[in-house]
Amino acid sequence: MKVFKASKSLVSHLSSQSRPLGFVPTMGALHDGHLSLINKALEQNHSVLVSIFINPTQFDNQTDLENYPTHFEADLQKIEKINGNISVYLPKAFDVYGQNIQSKSFDLGGLDLIMEGEKRSGHFQGVATVVSYFLNTFQPEKAYFGEKDFQQLRIVNHITQSQKLKTKIVSCPIVREKDGLAMSSRNALLTETERKFAPKLYESLCYAKKNAKHIQYGQLKDRINDFFKKYDLLTLDYFRITNAATLKEIDLEKPVSKGRAFIAAHLGKIRLIDNMDMS
Ligand code: PAF
Repeated sequence: MKVFKASKSLVSHLSSQSRPLGFVPTMGALHDGHLSLINKALEQNHSVLVSIFINPTQFDNQTDLENYPTHFEADLQKIEKINGNISVYLPKAFDVYGQNIQSKSFDLGGLDLIMEGEKRSGHFQGVATVVSYFLNTFQPEKAYFGEKDFQQLRIVNHITQSQKLKTKIVSCPIVREKDGLAMSSRNALLTETERKFAPKLYESLCYAKKNAKHIQYGQLKDRINDFFKKYDLLTLDYFRITNAATLKEIDLEKPVSKGRAFIAAHLGKIRLIDNMDMS
């Protein structure tokens, strides 16, 4: 495994690597969800690059940034264990942004203004800035993103199309714990009690999927709201079913025939998100 702190030396190294190059961007604190992306990249490419970078511009809240879990040594060991030939980009913010640690301004077609974008102001401009930097700098043939952050995945697809980038975006299914909780680096921050309630998001998505075709979507929304009111520790942020491509909310008066359900909830100080295909 070769670890690079500077993109310049990494680009030069990549020019001697065989193609296609598969790229897995991460913010570290690697779990089995990330490892599944890396394994898929290894299956589909001759060379693989993993980035570990906690991108400051996608945090709308300084405390959230400061508390984001960092386990760089353990992350590198996990990558090495999968395959010793992976290249790793582990930069400081200066290498990505220079002196000006700020998002660029992208037209994301409004996909950035709803759900996570509405709750976390500027978040997707930060994601778009760093992903666009990675794809333009390293020019991978494929880049791997998890469906856990489905809205991010749609936005990354939007960027690659609007900027006419050659990278193909590969979407990878959500990896779940045995009790259904979607794997996320933030899960490590939950207390023991909070962890017991965390699968309620998955439970409510399963309930939605089971009932969506039989009742109006508006009624289903009310039921999910009522479900969360039963738990003092959990506060529902939003539950929404949208068209999977446009992310526009479906008609409240009709039963759900297809679409994607999205949920976000606060559990103590931690905010969890999840989503599920409803067809
Ligand atoms: O999904 C993430 O971990 C981040 O948003 C990403 C894509 C690595 C950009 O910082």
